[in-house]
Amino acid sequence: MPKVIVSGRGGSGKSTLVTLLARLLGEKGEDALVVDVDESNLGLGKMLGIAPPAKTLMDYLGGKPAVREKLLASLRQGKGEGVQLFEGELTLGTLPRECVNWNGHLGFLRVGKIEHSMEGCACPMGAISRAFLKQLDVGERQWVLVDTEAGIEHFGRGVFEGADVVVVVVDPSHDAVLLAEKAKVLTEEAGKKCLVVLNKVDETTEPLLRQELRQRGIDVAGVVNFSIGVAQSNLLGKPLQADSLKGCIEQLLEKL
Ligand SMILES: Nc1ncnc2c1ncn2[C@@H]1O[C@H](COP(=O)(O)OP(=O)(O)OP(=O)(O)O)[C@@H](O)[C@H]1O
Ligand SMILES: [Mg+2]
Repeated sequence: MPKVIVSGRGGSGKSTLVTLLARLLGEKGEDALVVDVDESNLGLGKMLGIAPPAKTLMDYLGGKPAVREKLLASLRQGKGEGVQLFEGELTLGTLPRECVNWNGHLGFLRVGKIEHSMEGCACPMGAISRAFLKQLDVGERQWVLVDTEAGIEHFGRGVFEGADVVVVVVDPSHDAVLLAEKAKVLTEEAGKKCLVVLNKVDETTEPLLRQELRQRGIDVAGVVNFSIGVAQSNLLGKPLQADSLKGCIEQLLEKL
């Protein structure tokens, strides 16, 4: 089954969509590993209702200085940034135990977070994400859903190299439309499938957003309505309450 990257501007609903897709897959008895590659945000586990694993992949690989050193060595040897950081095969069944927490069919794994002021840029996290997703083998009835940081830096970092599909989340804003246009070009340039999904829309904003995207030659693959249940549960740091969105998420899943 596919490895899906969820992309979009800040606050468009990437983490929400990842959570709702993962939950629906779990309900259908399919394994869904949620991979948090966003080095800043902390709330994904709360949305999923799964505690963060004991270690991030960054911890597992020895910390940022160790990873940075491996990357620099690779660059010095002229091998570029697409370095192999993990030994042996990587599958959902062979992930380092301390790096993943499972709750039934849902797994939660974090690449790494910014932990200290002045610790340097997030490029090592990007390199880990890229290497991990590229190397990870996914079987039948297994999915990988990747929650990214806001914007398009992950495209530049090549995080989506090992992914099959990029879902671009568009909320009702001009910035989101412009970003969708750009993300679609970048995704297709890399030969990947791109699906644009509207989020947080209502009967007024949905047609406007569709019109803005149509003018730019962008088809809409899915629509997720604004849900007060999602907004409230997120505000309180509780697992997302989104029963009213199940139909929207079902329809989107069919497109993946
Ligand atoms: N369909 C929805 N209905 C109501 N509120 C929503 C919906 N989708 C997302 N939100 C709200 O919008 C806010 C941002 O959502 P979320 O954290 O999923 O976005 P994000 O794209 O992951 O943000 P970031 O770029 O910071 O990672 C949250 O308060 C969330 O509850
Ligand atoms: Mg997020």
